[in-house]
Amino acid sequence: MPKSRFLAALLLVASICQAQDVHPITKRRIAQVMGPGGADWLVRPERVEEEHPDEALDALKIPKGATVADIGAGVGYFTWRLADRVGPKGIVYGEDIQQVMLDMLDRNMKERHLSNVRPVLGTIDDPKLPKDAVDLILLVDVYHEFSEPQKMLARMRESLKPGGRLVLLEYRGEDPKVPIKLEHKMTIKQVRAELEPANLTFVESIEILPQQHILIFRK
Ligand SMILES: C[S@@+](CC[C@H](N)C(=O)[O-])C[C@H]1O[C@@H](n2cnc3c(N)ncnc32)[C@H](O)[C@@H]1O
Repeated sequence: MPKSRFLAALLLVASICQAQDVHPITKRRIAQVMGPGGADWLVRPERVEEEHPDEALDALKIPKGATVADIGAGVGYFTWRLADRVGPKGIVYGEDIQQVMLDMLDRNMKERHLSNVRPVLGTIDDPKLPKDAVDLILLVDVYHEFSEPQKMLARMRESLKPGGRLVLLEYRGEDPKVPIKLEHKMTIKQVRAELEPANLTFVESIEILPQQHILIFRK
């Protein structure tokens, strides 16, 4: 191949990679996916103080028997809490794109004798959930990692029952004191600008957590 064509091809590949790194609507940089090396960090004891996970779930008032999905569940830090809340008659889909995370999630559920959790291996553009089946989708510290956010939103919306809720917990991008890299934080304005075009209705933001927004949308 002539050198000039080779260089042009290289530039094209570089520009495609660059384009995929930036959200098409808000132009925010999309964060890297957390690998299994982050598993210990996800269950660090100080997380309870930093994120108040149980207070966050209290605010969602999840009824017993509900069907919920923890998307980007990691090792299941929120999945086991959801499983306790919905009880044995409820279902929790614990979904992630990394099998190694799901293996750890599965172990964590077995240790806690939880039998209402269904691990699901999704792909970067499809969480592989049943359609019209889910009352609540929870995304904790994960939406900003989606490399195909619009396709994920469309598929997640399809899996919600009419009136079902989609809830994001995201570190506050408006607050420079939150000690997290910029691409791992989101502002309310960014989230609304990206989710409302996916036909999800903004309900409210609940501001009771030390560092994160709780952002509620409805199908
Ligand atoms: C920072 S971890 C958060 C894990 C968990 N939600 C928690 O709070 O403990 C982000 C997780 O999102 C997953 N993830 C990234 N992109 C995803 C996608 N498109 N679909 C599902 N999971 C995804 C990663 O594999 C990783 O396990």
